[in-house]
Amino acid sequence: MADCITILGGRGMLGSDLAPVLVQAGYSVRILDLPEFDLTRADHLARALNGAQVVVNCAAFTNVDQAEKRFDTAMAVNGRAVGALGAAAKERGVFVVHISTDFVFDGRQTRPYVETDPPNPLNTYGRSKLEGEQALRDSACAHVILRVQWSYGNHGKNFISKIRERALTGKELKVVEDQVGAPTWTADMARAITVLIRDRRTGLYHFANAGYASRFEVAVFITTQLNLPVRIMPCVSEAFPTPTLRPKNSWFNTAKIQVILDAPIRSWQNALADFLATPP
Ligand SMILES: NC(=O)c1ccc[n+]([C@@H]2O[C@H](COP(=O)([O-])OP(=O)(O)OC[C@H]3O[C@@H](n4cnc5c(N)ncnc54)[C@H](OP(=O)(O)O)[C@@H]3O)[C@@H](O)[C@H]2O)c1
Repeated sequence: MADCITILGGRGMLGSDLAPVLVQAGYSVRILDLPEFDLTRADHLARALNGAQVVVNCAAFTNVDQAEKRFDTAMAVNGRAVGALGAAAKERGVFVVHISTDFVFDGRQTRPYVETDPPNPLNTYGRSKLEGEQALRDSACAHVILRVQWSYGNHGKNFISKIRERALTGKELKVVEDQVGAPTWTADMARAITVLIRDRRTGLYHFANAGYASRFEVAVFITTQLNLPVRIMPCVSEAFPTPTLRPKNSWFNTAKIQVILDAPIRSWQNALADFLATPP
């Protein structure tokens, strides 16, 4: 019989694209999210794990600026609750796939980040996600942690949807050129997660679409693909002051995960062109 997989935070951006890919791979999938499921509640966790062989934790407090103001909630959801999930999973023999982030790094490195690079988060969100990774490891449950960066998909707001929306107004855009990473489609993440589950891979992996670019270059790519005659001006991050520091280099080295995947990771340009050409 096919494994039963529970996706926590299953109605968020990644969870929404992950569920159909897992179903397509033959798994039976249960989706849980707020308000009926709260990761910080022990009774909810117990119910979520009952009958599951695998749980994928996509649930997180993801609003980076809000996390500064709501420190306790961010730490509870992204940190402590992940430890509780690990303890409950260990008790029941459930395999945990946990999603983490490039925000565990400070982005000051000038080469792509490998899994063994020392984390040094710049903000509360990054610290809370790092605490979650550590708490899961400490629980000693069977698990894999997948760090992703610059995600986009059809569900929820992201850099790609914001640029597309603004470009459609025809007004000139200013986009930062001092932040680099690889826009990564949640559908591609979902296929990588399916392999991690199938092969019960454990440990820590980085995943991103191949290559890298500045946010400015990504914006130019989007408007070119969509044939939108919009002027885009490069600027520096300081032109858009935010209350929270963010890493300027989010570029991941994906050599470790590439070895275990069934196919080469496609370039960010191929994935994004495909995404922009696919109706939601
Ligand atoms: N988006 C990115 O660029 C990015 C980059 C790197 C890593 N990640 C990581 O990728 C994972 C998936 O994030 P995403 O992009 O899919 O973000 P998302 O759309 O914000 O999804 C997170 C989901 O978790 C839910 N949630 C929040 N608090 C919860 C709680 N206490 N109990 C249960 N569910 C809760 C949210 O519900 P509400 O919407 O109702 O709050 C939402 O449905 C997260 O671990 C995130 O840290 C994301």
